[in-house]
Amino acid sequence: MALIEVHDLRKGYAMGDLRTEVLRGVELAVEPGEFVTLYGPSGSGKTTLLNIIAGVDAADAGTVHVDGLEVTAANQRALTEYRRDNVGYIFQFYNLIPTLTALENVSLALELGGVRDGARSQEALAQVGLGDKGHRFPAQLSGGEQQRVAIARALVKRPTVVAGDEPTGNLDAETSRDIIDLLHRLNEDHGLTILLATHDPELAGRGARVMELRDGVLHHLHGALPYNHSKNNHLEEVRRGADAGEGQARRGAPS
Ligand SMILES: Nc1ncnc2c1ncn2[C@@H]1O[C@H](COP(=O)(O)OP(=O)(O)O)[C@@H](O)[C@H]1O
Ligand SMILES: [Mg+2]
Repeated sequence: MALIEVHDLRKGYAMGDLRTEVLRGVELAVEPGEFVTLYGPSGSGKTTLLNIIAGVDAADAGTVHVDGLEVTAANQRALTEYRRDNVGYIFQFYNLIPTLTALENVSLALELGGVRDGARSQEALAQVGLGDKGHRFPAQLSGGEQQRVAIARALVKRPTVVAGDEPTGNLDAETSRDIIDLLHRLNEDHGLTILLATHDPELAGRGARVMELRDGVLHHLHGALPYNHSKNNHLEEVRRGADAGEGQARRGAPS
């Protein structure tokens, strides 16, 4: 079994008399240490899918297994532990606690699991390049730095999976690239398994594996594409790669 296995996952929302089926039979298998980008326009169901995998939201039907745990069948107590110990979530708006310093924000993620280890939190901050800014409050950090703190908070617990939901959605283009570079480095250096949801075709083109969420199911778009392309050309290239069904390996890994 893969580290993450999603099978025939279904989820819809009722709004009055109208019912929208957002996920219509999603299939996904992710191996340990993979970096998988979930690409799709706003409203395609990326957040819904990530939330179900992360044990935050419940599916209507289908199964999610993560590292042997059947998330879709787990009781509340098991889900609480799973979210706390195994899932590192990174959000678009960072979701740091404003009255805690950077270091305290990171430490809190450990303390929730009963671990007090300031050195480990400090090390996580150093891994995201903020070793000297742990004493600062979120308001004293730039957006990119706040997101780095959030990444440190996610990785400090050595999670089974890191789920990033549009983690660069609030950042300028250059800072976005820095953050994505950082995630790639953490993936490569520490074998972190990463699921990245984005509507940005440029960022999607950088994933080692890109899946497009369209019409409620995931389509494999390959990946491992070169990086320096204009936004639209880039996605076109992703698409052509998928249509051709070959050639990705020859293009080499993203820079
Ligand atoms: N709690 C909810 N109640 C009703 N509709 C929802 C709810 N959450 C999401 N949706 C709808 O489900 C669809 C997918 O949403 P979402 O998963 O947030 O997509 P994405 O993250 O790709 O933008 C959207 O049409 C959205 O309006
Ligand atoms: Mg979303």
